[in-house]
Amino acid sequence: MAAIGKDILKASKLLKSGNIVAIPTETVYGLAGNALHDDIVVKIFKAKNRPAFDPLICHTDSIDKMAQFVEYIPSEVKTLANAFWPGPLTVLLKKKPIIPSLTTSGLDEVAFRIPNHPLTLELLSALDFPLAAPSANPFGYISPTTAKHVQDQLGNEINYILDGGECEVGIESTIIGFPAGEPTVYRLGGKQVEEIEALIGPVKINLNQSSNPSAPGMLKSHYAPKKPVHVGNISELLELHEGKRIGVISFVDHYDAISDEHQRVLSQNGELNEAARNLFSALRQLDSMSIEIILSEPFPNEGLGRAINDRLNRASAK
Ligand code: TXA
Ligand code: MG
Repeated sequence: MAAIGKDILKASKLLKSGNIVAIPTETVYGLAGNALHDDIVVKIFKAKNRPAFDPLICHTDSIDKMAQFVEYIPSEVKTLANAFWPGPLTVLLKKKPIIPSLTTSGLDEVAFRIPNHPLTLELLSALDFPLAAPSANPFGYISPTTAKHVQDQLGNEINYILDGGECEVGIESTIIGFPAGEPTVYRLGGKQVEEIEALIGPVKINLNQSSNPSAPGMLKSHYAPKKPVHVGNISELLELHEGKRIGVISFVDHYDAISDEHQRVLSQNGELNEAARNLFSALRQLDSMSIEIILSEPFPNEGLGRAINDRLNRASAK
């Protein structure tokens, strides 16, 4: 089992001496290590059982620091970074050779973001290297939004979990790149596409779902609980699956046919931010119960609802 605490000095010492440590961010917990060393990055891939073709996101605490590791920063990225960092937006930029190709799975571009969490920002300010940090879950499973989620699944792989409480956004960062200068969102996430477009104009959405993604590791069956997930009209799905032990995820509505224990209403007030924050915990809780399938409503396809639907659809694509 890993130790859990709020000791930033301990975390920074472990990281400086080549260990990997779980860190909180506003989106999900990350499994962090020095992004500049192959032998440390390998530890991250191993602990997660992550295939080497799925590149890692680098985390830093200032644009100036990031500039040391990328060839150039296009003006749109400066605009987005100034507006949204620290925050749930990741940008793809041409990497300098100092970033090992293992970190980027051989790609020329490296993913960077400044996460918005006070503990992790303080930690990053004490480090002169970026932290490579994928979500701190075994590959393919639901991302962790509490220190306990990390402990439950990766506690034997690491020594320390920096505990920053429950993640405020609860869903991974939005990833944007600029192939041939054209802004392209590769993963829907915590920063709404609408907010990005308000600043830099229309963006393309390219959620690559192939099994060997050249860009983001957006494998179709990702974020998946162990139980099958079905997304659709709950009443119809309940009829279809009559006789099974069922868990239900809904936005606002409560379903009388299902016991309270087996249903999770993600936001009684109908707020998509709150629903996103609760989504992964709800999936985990239902996944751990003695039910056979998880049914979910589709969410309104706007703002964070698009990212929620994306995660649910991937979870249901076994
Ligand atoms: O919110 C987040 O982004 C969290 C926290 C910890 O920061 N991190 C996270 O990392 O979700 P991960 O590894 O679970 O997802 C990172 C995604 C992967 O799907 C990866 O393929 C994509 O980012 N990615 C990373 N580097 C890339 C690159 N150079 N080109 C294209 N996609 C990249
Ligand atoms: Mg992940």
